[in-house]
Amino acid sequence: MKGRQASGTEQAVDLCGVSLRGPVLNGSGTFDAIAARRAFGDVLLERFPFDLFVSKTVTLEPRAGNPPPRLWETPAGLLNSIGLPNKGLDGFLAADLPQLAELPVPLCVSVMGFTRDELAVLVERVGARAEVSLIELNVSCPNVETGLIMGADPGETARAVERVRPLCPKPLVVKLTPNAGDPGAVATAAEEAGADAVSLVNTLRGMALHPRTRRPWLGGGSGGLSGPAIRAVALGQVASVARSVSIPVIGMGGIASGADAAEFMAAGAAAIAVGTESFRDPGAGHRIGDELAGARGVTSGVTSSVQPSPDHRSGGAPAA
Ligand code: DHB
Repeated sequence: MKGRQASGTEQAVDLCGVSLRGPVLNGSGTFDAIAARRAFGDVLLERFPFDLFVSKTVTLEPRAGNPPPRLWETPAGLLNSIGLPNKGLDGFLAADLPQLAELPVPLCVSVMGFTRDELAVLVERVGARAEVSLIELNVSCPNVETGLIMGADPGETARAVERVRPLCPKPLVVKLTPNAGDPGAVATAAEEAGADAVSLVNTLRGMALHPRTRRPWLGGGSGGLSGPAIRAVALGQVASVARSVSIPVIGMGGIASGADAAEFMAAGAAAIAVGTESFRDPGAGHRIGDELAGARGVTSGVTSSVQPSPDHRSGGAPAA
């Protein structure tokens, strides 16, 4: 894993009062820092690929996740139906949080409740832990039995944020779904209910069929699409949401290069997250951060050499 130099303050970001050395986050559930530490040892801590670590989503009770198969590759994308396997709140606090607290960057814990009362317990207990700097409210997971996405509806989102806001003084980041009719309206509802930031996009709902049986391939039936295949959709929604709210927007969806990241920031993102690309290259966060610094001209003495992502197709430059 190649490392990004511990930089000065050129790329530093203040995210809701939390100081980050740069703007590159991981998408929740796309980088297992505990497994990576086992695999790479302490070099992971010396060369950590992200400037803020977002945990996998934690639910109140332990979950086994969806039956296999859980993944399907599409042209330029990945369809997943993982189904939120996790140790549950007690298991997370006892076993995972102490390990995540050893990471060299601030920690955001992602939580999801099946009801507002569940969400309240999660936010109160996670928010009480000193190791946690921010909380992500995942109201946008598409891979649960109910098939319902709280964050698809502005009113439901507002009620969830209003319920938990008084329980935790720490910044609350609401993770939005692209599967909403009007993501800008959901973002505005979250802001008015007290959210400190929004992040988007989660995965786009989709499905794949077994090539022979024509039955759903994924054990969960349907899944969520991520990767470069969704980048243009994500960029459009980030731009639209950034125009609708005044709280910070964390942009993600198929970011695979510094040039991609620079586009999301130009569209209004205060920070960006790398997700699917980290499965291909666990050091992608470093590379994208370095490329982004070059793109923004903040790395003194280094010529900007940002290239479009490998999947970029030249459609011809617009006429000058
Ligand atoms: C899972 C998928 C998501 O898109 C998400 O936000 C959280 C969890 C999952 O399938 O585990």
